[in-house]
Amino acid sequence: MFDLVAGFCQSQILLALIDLEILQCLADGPQSPLDLALAVRVPEGRMKVLLNGGAALGLITVRREVKLTPRGAALLAVPGLPDMIRHHETLYRDLSDPVAFFRGETETELAAVWPYVFGDGAAQDPARAARYSRLMEGSMALVAEDTLAAVDLSRAEHLMDVGGGTGAFVKAVAKTVPKLDLTLFDLPAVTAGVTDLPPRARILSGSFRDGNLPRGADVITLVRVLYDHDDASVAELLARVRDALPPRGRVIISEPMTGCRAGDSYFALYCMAMRTGQVRSVERVAELLREAGFGGLRTPKSRRPFVTSVVEAVR
Ligand SMILES: C[S@@+](CC[C@H](N)C(=O)[O-])C[C@H]1O[C@@H](n2cnc3c(N)ncnc32)[C@H](O)[C@@H]1O
Repeated sequence: MFDLVAGFCQSQILLALIDLEILQCLADGPQSPLDLALAVRVPEGRMKVLLNGGAALGLITVRREVKLTPRGAALLAVPGLPDMIRHHETLYRDLSDPVAFFRGETETELAAVWPYVFGDGAAQDPARAARYSRLMEGSMALVAEDTLAAVDLSRAEHLMDVGGGTGAFVKAVAKTVPKLDLTLFDLPAVTAGVTDLPPRARILSGSFRDGNLPRGADVITLVRVLYDHDDASVAELLARVRDALPPRGRVIISEPMTGCRAGDSYFALYCMAMRTGQVRSVERVAELLREAGFGGLRTPKSRRPFVTSVVEAVR
């Protein structure tokens, strides 16, 4: 019961530790509580409360000196994770009146972080695209690891990652699967920021809302793409994916889904705050694939449902 009411305070402790750069300071070595308080201009007594909160979350230990725990160090070691946590301030503002939020009366701010939800016309600014792509890149390592553990790409010849951002998944595939040809497909504002793709990967810019997808790949991946969009857009996208694949070609969907605590109590609200977004169950994703004409459905058990779940289908 306790964590049901304490969740918000715990998130704010985490945000304060990150925004005040306390975890970052401690990465350089232990510090006394007083030095930390002076460095970040928080009164000593209030700093004690914040530090004890951080210790209760398992991120630091507080004795004569304050030290990072392995969990705190792990949090800092994931590139982009502090930025990902920080951008939740927007979500928390959107949720500050939960009744209005669930009634659909809140003009949410989070949607503006993901401008493509307003259509491609709104998604042409490379600076905004770079910002959201950075947020996604930070969490890709775990998503790629679990996705690649769930599927067999040993006989695949050419994989196209649609909505692949700045190529973090393509790079992870290149490291894991030798000889596979790779294509990254995303909006021009996003692909403008792509760097360091492996030589066997090529970039195609475009919108999956504008006509057919490029052909040539026998595997198409959609990693954390469907949950941004409503059913009508997803149906249209899956039809285009099917058209782009050869007979027996495969589509792989990987994203957090409902039916687990993270899916139902976090991702579902996050996507709703994006306005067009919708987290779906494994069964619903499978149903949308069947409706788009796919067969041979596979739904491997997720290793970490809070990271991702995978549904695979064959044309
Ligand atoms: C939530 S991000 C996921 C990025 C990447 N797959 C990942 O998991 O990190 C969704 C991606 O879909 C792309 N996207 C959105 N609308 C698109 C469209 N109409 N055509 C192509 N890509 C689009 C976005 O630019 C963004 O890179």
